[in-house]
Amino acid sequence: MFLLNSFLLSFLPPLSVLRLGNTANSIVAAKQTMKLSDRVLCLCLTAANINRALYFICDNVLWARNVGLIRSIDKERWSIHAFRYYLFSLVMNLTRDLYVISQLMMQKVRDNRFKWKMNQHLKECPEVAEVTIPELDALVFLLLETLRSEPTVALDTVKNICDLFIPLDRMGIYKSSAGVVGFCGLISSLIGILTFARSTLRIKP
Ligand SMILES: *[C@@H]1O[C@H](CO)[C@@H](O)[C@H](O)[C@H]1NC(C)=O
Repeated sequence: MFLLNSFLLSFLPPLSVLRLGNTANSIVAAKQTMKLSDRVLCLCLTAANINRALYFICDNVLWARNVGLIRSIDKERWSIHAFRYYLFSLVMNLTRDLYVISQLMMQKVRDNRFKWKMNQHLKECPEVAEVTIPELDALVFLLLETLRSEPTVALDTVKNICDLFIPLDRMGIYKSSAGVVGFCGLISSLIGILTFARSTLRIKP
């Protein structure tokens, strides 16, 4: 979503009002996630939203610098700050995803219907179970089944991982090729559009 957002916002000046809206939006979202009763979700999402708000503030400052409203700021430093907040927000979002996935996996393990399915799977491919570690095979099966039954979490995880590449690259932590950055940006934007169009695919809260 990052590439698409930046692209739209830099070419459509009237949309720059959206930048201020984004900051306010993230603060409102943080206030809401603070009320979540699940401690881990509350912590991850509130931290993600606060950092997202900070990111948008930096983004606003950079925008004001670009259009000449302010001159005196160091563009490089502000953009590093912006990427740092963005990255932290993403890491918090990913932590949430991993937490939700692990909870769902534990739920599945307790589910009798799933136990039956798992046994069928292990019986069907005994040769796999023999060569590789059966526990690992079972774990991968459990993970894939979990992601398949909860596409919202799967999509959000893929999107967040794709989004990681741009800030990591810009901050010089992990350099990727332009192709990788572009491809990840595309996947992330497509998932963003998909979840925007179909709210049932959007992760909640
Ligand atoms: C983190 O997740 C929230 C809620 O799903 C989302 O609104 C926000 O854009 C995400 N943050 C980033 C940096 O993608």
